[in-house]
This record gives sequence, structure tokens and C-alpha cells, in this order.
Amino acid sequence: MPCTVRKYSASDFDEVLVLCQNAYKFDSFTKELLHEKIYEDPFFNPEIIWLAEEGTAIVGFLMGTCRMDIRGVNYGYVKLMAVKESHQRKGIARSMYELLEKELCSRKVDVMRLGDVPMNYFMPGIDPRYTPALCFAMRMGFNRFMDTSNLTVNLSFREWIDDEKIKALHLDNIEVSRAAIEDKDELMNFVAEEWKLWQFELEMAYKLNPIAIHIAKLNGKIKAFSAHSANNKGLPWFGPMGTHPDLRGKGVGKVLLYRCLEDLKNIGFKTAIIPWVGPIDFYSHHAGAVVERVFWRYEKKLS
Ligand SMILES: CC(C)(COP(=O)(O)OP(=O)(O)OC[C@H]1O[C@@H](n2cnc3c(N)ncnc32)[C@H](O)[C@@H]1OP(=O)(O)O)[C@@H](O)C(=O)NCCC(=O)NCCS
Repeated sequence: MPCTVRKYSASDFDEVLVLCQNAYKFDSFTKELLHEKIYEDPFFNPEIIWLAEEGTAIVGFLMGTCRMDIRGVNYGYVKLMAVKESHQRKGIARSMYELLEKELCSRKVDVMRLGDVPMNYFMPGIDPRYTPALCFAMRMGFNRFMDTSNLTVNLSFREWIDDEKIKALHLDNIEVSRAAIEDKDELMNFVAEEWKLWQFELEMAYKLNPIAIHIAKLNGKIKAFSAHSANNKGLPWFGPMGTHPDLRGKGVGKVLLYRCLEDLKNIGFKTAIIPWVGPIDFYSHHAGAVVERVFWRYEKKLS
């Protein structure tokens, strides 16, 4: 029976969940996670989310999104894609992707990417074990431009809070604490210049109780932060974190990292994920983090 392609609507959610659970063999999707990926995307738009149907059964899903004007460039993304195993290699992903690309082209997108969507992403590229997805990317005209990694930390073998170091920092007028609601404006301004794209994840971390952000203030001014649980609900997701150059090299990043790891441990996680890294040596040195997964990043210039 031939497949038809149409746009996503809310009533498709449960079937799409099962499709993703089956197709993503190296990941696990919960209802809450998929819901966050679709509906908490800051540019959620059902006009660029596609489904393939055979009769009334959903056999393909491809979620597009975009981020406009990141340093002058408009990016379009395939955030998620899945085709039922029995229906693969029949051109289903291709037909959904071609519709997405056409639509995003008309919306002035310059560059397409796969997976690595700032603010709200699932995985920061393609895990090469999803080899059909790599083949698909190449066939659709994407070029591989970088690798990135997710690290993992074993949380169970130690306590993470370093009270001695926190006291020593205090003697240098550096105060480490959990971010309070009163700190929010200052924190958002602090990240605005260097790390504007992280404001969204900090917003998410601010919604949690307790607030999933720790900060360091030098002489009363925020100079560093770390956050967790700001993306991928239900996964032990660390980040983002950043330290102003004024405070680098004093052990502040380590203390802030540890406070988030302790939070994740207290939630009940045995391991933490440090995604889309970045300074592997920092996390390896301080927390014994090891590379758990590698992701290949792909892009395609449209303009
Ligand atoms: C990746 C995926 C969505 C592709 O869906 P699909 O409908 O089978 O893809 P298409 O049939 O449209 O393939 C288009 C082209 O991609 C390439 N391709 C797709 N699957 C391939 C495979 N298994 N081996 C080699 N090339 C492949 C081919 O060039 C193909 O064109 P061709 O058949 O004319 O040669 C599907 O394999 C899938 O659901 N995989 C599991 C989930 C997944 O990997 N998601 C992405 C994680 S990052």
C-alpha cells in the first residue's frame, strides 16, 4: 500500500512515541521525554513536523525545527526522524525530508543540520551506530563537519560536595550557592553576551524545584554558573556551565560541577551525562568522566 505524507497533529503523539521507541535502538524514549522534545522546543511548529502513513498507521516521523539568526545565520534542523523497520529503504524519510527542506528554504534557512539543535535537543549529532541515518545524511547532500561527545560520570562512588574548597573560596570573597529567584535577572544578563543560547536552558532549570542551577559570586557579582536537568527530561543531564575569565583557574568550575553532580545523585541517578563536550580533560580530571558516546555532526548549505 502506498504511503502518504502529512503534517503532525497532537493526536498522533502516542503512535509517534511507539515509532521512536522502536526505531531508536540505542536510546530510550519516555512519554515525558518525547513531549519535551516536541512541545518545549522554543520554535515548535507543527507545520514543519511530518508523518508518513500507510492506511491509518503511522510508519514515519520527521521533526523539523529552526533557529534563526545565530550570529547572522538561519539554521534548520532535523531534530528527530524514525521510520518503521519494515518500511525502511522505501524513500519515506527522503520524502519527508524533501518537504522539510523546501519549506525551510522558503523561510530563508541558510544551513540544515541533523540533531544538534541548540536550546532543546535530543542528541548532539548522529551516533554513528545509527548507520542508516549516516547513509541517509550523505545521500541528502549533507557533509560531516565535526564530532562531539557525551561523557558519563559514575555518581555512586563518592560524595561530590567539597565544603573545604567552598570555605577557601569564601576567604577570597567568592560565594558559592544555589541560584535563587532573585538572581535570575543578573544571571540572564551574565550569560547574555557570551552564552546567549544557554538562556533557554537556564530558564528550564529555573522551573525546577529546587532550582537546578548553582552560581558563584565574586564580591557579590555572578561570575560563574552550572546547571542540570535543563534538557531531556528524565535523563541525568548536566549543563550548561560557564565561568567568567576573571574567575578561571581558581577551582570554581570544579565546585559548581560537583554541586550539580550531587543534585543528580540525590535525585537518585547512578550516572550523569555530560553532553556535547567540549573540554573533555576538565570533566575527566575532576569527575572521572569518560566518553560514552560519539556523535558525528552534519550540515548542508542551502543558500
Ligand atoms: C534513518 C532512517 C530514518 C531512514 O529512513 P528510510 O525511510 O529508510 O530512508 P529512505 O528510504 O528515505 O532513504 C533515502 C536514502 O538514504 C540512504 N539510506 C537510507 N537507509 C540506508 C541504509 N540502511 N543503508 C544504506 N543507505 C541507506 C539511501 O541512499 C537511500 O536512498 P536509496 O534507497 O535510493 O539508495 C531509518 O533508517 C530509521 O528510522 N533509522 C532508525 C532511527 C534513526 O537512526 N534515527 C536517526 C537517529 S540520529
